[in-house]
Amino acid sequence: MNRTVSVAKRVDAVVLVGGMGTRLRPLTLSAPKPMLPTAGVPFLQHLLARIAATGVTHVVLGTSYQAEVFEQYFGDGASLGLELEYVFEAEPLGTGGGIRNVADRLRGDTVLIFNGDVLSGADLGELLATHERTDADVTLYLTTVEDPRAFGCVPTDADGMVTDFLEKDPNPVTNQINAGAYVFKRWVVDSIPAGRPVSVERETFPGLLASGARVAGHVATSYWRDLGQPADFISGSADLVRGRAPSPALPGPVGEFLVLPGAHVSPEAKLSGGSAVGAGCVVGAGAVVEGSVLFDGAVVEAGAVVRRSAIGFGARVGTGALVEDSVVGDRAVVGVDVQLRCGARLWPDAVLADGSLRFSSDA
Ligand code: GDD
Ligand code: MG
Repeated sequence: MNRTVSVAKRVDAVVLVGGMGTRLRPLTLSAPKPMLPTAGVPFLQHLLARIAATGVTHVVLGTSYQAEVFEQYFGDGASLGLELEYVFEAEPLGTGGGIRNVADRLRGDTVLIFNGDVLSGADLGELLATHERTDADVTLYLTTVEDPRAFGCVPTDADGMVTDFLEKDPNPVTNQINAGAYVFKRWVVDSIPAGRPVSVERETFPGLLASGARVAGHVATSYWRDLGQPADFISGSADLVRGRAPSPALPGPVGEFLVLPGAHVSPEAKLSGGSAVGAGCVVGAGAVVEGSVLFDGAVVEAGAVVRRSAIGFGARVGTGALVEDSVVGDRAVVGVDVQLRCGARLWPDAVLADGSLRFSSDA
């Protein structure tokens, strides 16, 4: 047995999946963010497969928003080689409260904790190894981004130890950020106050640092993306399809597109840019689907163009329509020759009549 696996056997994983996914609306009206189809499977499946590949088998999901759909889909986790448990928060307890709420399910002395909306290629065995090597109370997976303002800003010292934690700071002191995965010693979970909302970022981490706890940083330069916004969700799916983001759960070979069984794609349609086409979708002749996600049952009619967009369950993009950098809600209809662009979000069941919305003066 190699070292990673022997360590992993004593590790419980916790995945926080209780958020409402507000920034991804309207897609998250029908499904919680971690359950949205991403490169052909619910996003969470990619993360669970990576956890399983590390040798960790016991995984607890901290649920709240639309909690029941997780268990309906993943059940006891056996098909992924995991033992899955679900712990429900009637009132969302925040990230720290969600971690504290699963304490009585933990079995080992080491807890690997994940935000449920991060797509990453980091080696989880190396994260665990850093935690062991530094004998830290908490080890944070860190990465660098161009604009850290939407994240937790995490400076470290020359030894790689964390010196501060500044959540969503408007004037970040470094572009090194919290990448949304942590290793906790068990006592740290138990030290979080129970029964009330707690932010691990705004309360627990600053509190640990103030009390002199050992908080280590594990910096990884591998692929990383938070899928909380439509453009990132869509790009993340495309990166999985193209193999830029590694996943053991991709339901097909990597390539320029992925078509699930049961979809009907015209031989005269052009799919590219890592597009994912769900089961039961129809893509007509001459249609172009580039860097996009078509949820199950979506229809892109002949000659329509869909670029860098997500088309919800059973939604329809009419003949000659253009959907670019936009989100079309479940069952919505984008009429013939309609143009949707620049971050448009069409709500579920909305119907844009043929020719009713354009971004140009062309007839
Ligand atoms: N169980 C539970 N309960 N889970 C929750 C709750 C809750 O009340 N609130 C949020 N979550 C889950 C979300 O479902 C998501 O998977 C994760 O916690 C993080 O929440 P987000 O809302 O996506 O946070 P963020 O993206 O703004 O910021 C977080 O992630 C960044 C990295 O992606 C922070 O941890 C930042 O510090 C970090 O940089
Ligand atoms: Mg997020």
